[in-house]
Amino acid sequence: MRVLVVSCSPRKNGNTELLLEEAVKGAADAGADVEFVRLRKFKILPCMECLSCHKDGKCVIEDDMQMFYPKLIDMEAIILGSPMFFMGIPAQGKAFIDRCQPFWAIKYLLKREFIPKERIPRRGAFISVGGTKLAHLFDGATRVVKSFFKVIEVEYHDELLFKGVDDKGQILKHPQALKLSYELGARIAKTSQKP
Ligand SMILES: Cc1cc2nc3c(=O)[nH]c(=O)nc-3n(C[C@H](O)[C@H](O)[C@H](O)COP(=O)(O)O)c2cc1C
Repeated sequence: MRVLVVSCSPRKNGNTELLLEEAVKGAADAGADVEFVRLRKFKILPCMECLSCHKDGKCVIEDDMQMFYPKLIDMEAIILGSPMFFMGIPAQGKAFIDRCQPFWAIKYLLKREFIPKERIPRRGAFISVGGTKLAHLFDGATRVVKSFFKVIEVEYHDELLFKGVDDKGQILKHPQALKLSYELGARIAKTSQKP
């Protein structure tokens, strides 16, 4: 059972990464084969809307995103983690999501299958932190992630959203956050296991 864990945070050892590390442990302890990817380490250019992928389902930009396409097909579950930047997902994460337009093209324009039917639905979870306590803080990002998951044949299954967490490492002082993240990882791994 393969779980892909993706951090959209540009901050090394920040709150998102600390939370995701716990989710990784939870999923691994539940028996999953987990890959943890920190997008800050990769070069992923933004989509330039050349629409080349609308013709053949392939992206023409030759950068690190190319190695993520097979991983997004291969995985059985995904946990996406992100801080809130201007009420949304930081550029690193948004570029990653936008570069999944080839999957949209394959699904809706070319009407081809890229995940065999018996592997659908795959499961997905969203973990997020924001510095403020604003109402609706996560609304925009949650909609983006739901749309992303739908395109890549993932059901939005779980979420953990923490407000008022701003300083680096502040999440460590939260009474339950790390435990909840560990449990989410375990849950995603267990519920994604096919009989
Ligand atoms: C460019 C930038 C924009 C931000 N925008 C928001 C925001 O709109 N709302 C909010 O609550 N926090 C905002 N924050 C604060 C971060 O969400 C917060 O520091 C978070 O804990 C960072 O998580 P990380 O340590 O995983 O990177 C912003 C921070 C930066 C650097």
